[in-house]
Amino acid sequence: MINDAVQVRSVSRRYGSGDSAVTALDQVSLAFPEGTFTAVMGPSGSGKSTLLHCAAGLDRPTSGSVTVAGTELTRLGETRLTRLRRERIGFVFQAFNLLPSLTAEQNVALPLRLAGRRPSGARVREVLRQVGLGDRARHRPAELSGGQQQRVALARALITRPAVLFGDEPTGALDSRTGREVLGLLRAMVDGDGQTIIMVTHDPVAACHADRVVFLVDGRLNGELAGAGAEDIAAHMAKLEAVPC
Ligand SMILES: Nc1ncnc2c1ncn2[C@@H]1O[C@H](COP(=O)(O)OP(=O)(O)OP(=O)(O)O)[C@@H](O)[C@H]1O
Ligand SMILES: [Mg+2]
Repeated sequence: MINDAVQVRSVSRRYGSGDSAVTALDQVSLAFPEGTFTAVMGPSGSGKSTLLHCAAGLDRPTSGSVTVAGTELTRLGETRLTRLRRERIGFVFQAFNLLPSLTAEQNVALPLRLAGRRPSGARVREVLRQVGLGDRARHRPAELSGGQQQRVALARALITRPAVLFGDEPTGALDSRTGREVLGLLRAMVDGDGQTIIMVTHDPVAACHADRVVFLVDGRLNGELAGAGAEDIAAHMAKLEAVPC
């Protein structure tokens, strides 16, 4: 039986109050089975980042619940939520957010140090090899290309063997060739290691590396495509973004 790595149930997120209130997410329910790769798409402001932040425990829904690897995040206090986020959840952003003064291996080991654990050198080298950077362990971010820096960020997200890896436009700052390399790596993690991945993207070519694409419009789900090619995904996005004139 395949379990869900993440379940989002009737999640709403409202910001502000009164006249300036914004409903960023409106009753969104989604399940993300273990070992699957899901892309989240939708127009700017449709709630993609808000959904990711709520699902990853970086933000709290106004209502509804989120379960990651069997634990309901929405019931946890701050201390336990922080611990669960550190140990079970990986996150990569568009900006790589590496610490410039640390080497690749020190950046990768950081989540374990922050959790008060002694990182094993062998484990750090193993994840660096997994992202194709076995020979760059001693390099600092400024000595690495953009694609290599994002791969260090990926290794840092994977060091704790998270139940789920979230990416908010992880290839958004990369040229298309380098972006494809990172996407190939994400795909290989799903196929080879059964990693669960949830990735926000604007790019239909990036999205077609996923098993399915879910679409958001105005904070609500608006259809999904399974196993679709870039052209079908682009056509669906064009429909969602069409402005009547
Ligand atoms: N902290 C906040 N306070 C107030 N409104 C917010 C906040 N964060 C997001 N919003 C609003 O919620 C809505 C959804 O924002 P979100 O960042 O999730 O969109 P997105 O789909 O990720 O957009 P983009 O593609 O531009 O990154 C937007 O209308 C945004 O202005
Ligand atoms: Mg966003």
